[in-house]
Amino acid sequence: MLRVNPNYLKLRGSYLFSNIAKKVNEYSANHPDAQIIRLGIGDVTQPLTPTVIKALHDATDEMADKNTFRGYAPDLGYDFLRNTIVEHEYKSRGCEIAADEIFISDGAKSDSGNIQEIFSSECKIAVTDPVYPVYVDSNVMAGRAGEFVEQKEQWSNIIYMPCTEENGFTPAFPEEVPDIIYICSPNNPTGTALKKDALQKWVDYANEHKAVILFDAAYEAYISEDDVPHSIYECEGARSCAIEMRSFSKNAGFTGVRLGYTVVPKDIKDVDGNQVHPMWARRHGTKFNGAPYIQQRAGEAVYSAEGQKEIRGLVNYYMENAKIIREGLKDAGYTVYGGVNAPYIWLKTPDNMTSWQFFDHLLETVNIVGTPGSGFGPSGEGFFRLTAFGSHENTKAAIERIKHI
Ligand SMILES: Cc1ncc(COP(=O)(O)O)c(C=O)c1O
Repeated sequence: MLRVNPNYLKLRGSYLFSNIAKKVNEYSANHPDAQIIRLGIGDVTQPLTPTVIKALHDATDEMADKNTFRGYAPDLGYDFLRNTIVEHEYKSRGCEIAADEIFISDGAKSDSGNIQEIFSSECKIAVTDPVYPVYVDSNVMAGRAGEFVEQKEQWSNIIYMPCTEENGFTPAFPEEVPDIIYICSPNNPTGTALKKDALQKWVDYANEHKAVILFDAAYEAYISEDDVPHSIYECEGARSCAIEMRSFSKNAGFTGVRLGYTVVPKDIKDVDGNQVHPMWARRHGTKFNGAPYIQQRAGEAVYSAEGQKEIRGLVNYYMENAKIIREGLKDAGYTVYGGVNAPYIWLKTPDNMTSWQFFDHLLETVNIVGTPGSGFGPSGEGFFRLTAFGSHENTKAAIERIKHI
């Protein structure tokens, strides 16, 4: 008899951004003249850079020639890209990572959702609150989350680590020791980032308790402060306890191209001495057929001198928006966080409005779409996320509108 996976029946509603899209579509249908500005979803708006476009064209042309045509890519990634990543992201920062510890993928969303599969269903996970929803939902699907407790708006078997104004959005060690710890820095949604000493404490904690840190560094390119690490492997001892996920989406604008990678050092072992690295290689080889050659050549081009200059331009463009939002909101009397090492601004809702009340208020009064903080977890209640990924024009217009509410 056919039965769906019962864990999937436990999932809550639809994905946060589908809920937002539904509300906005309804509003647009009823107000066809509304000039809506979207600063909700964290998707880029600027086109791919010339160096990337050229690499995409060149690789496509290779596909048209019988001598250079490529079929299936290696499951774990082409060496030309794995080696380039090691040189530019790790060796240059003094991090000891080998090319065969880099697993090329189609992006950090699938990797951050899939990586939990290689760990026992008995493992206890800890997430920050608020949290990128993929970490929680993928563990609900895996049967690791327990039951949803309505009053707390939390899953009974997940350890939540509140990130609040009081703790500067840096999570404290939880009372119960987890086996798997999700950390995202720079953070989506709070836009804040862990300093080196704070991250080092987490690495020490994980090593001490034989836990693993799943470190999502999708926004690494936005770091502007010197004491914020770009990779967790800048911390001593991280090779034995940390898996790092990276993406070309937010630095190079590959949200539609799709490319990312995950680093799994060979030093990570479970309590029985089993290496984690071959498990992820096996999982990747079985369920993933390799990121496309054309995309991987485009990824390689990002690391050329010209490519690096161009993506710096993209990041600066969005960070200029972040500044416009941050400063503009401060002038308007809002309390704001983030936007210094990340393209997100996390603002406190005014007049004690709930996050969804403020969402409706902004949509209805000034036709601006943002993301309600409570959609990322109970500690996000009373906060609201705006992204810096819009155009300058829209960002400036949005802030002017908010100032005049
Ligand atoms: C924290 C975090 N990780 C991963 C992703 C997804 O990255 P990718 O486009 O590489 O799948 C996002 C996208 O918004 C994100 O916010």
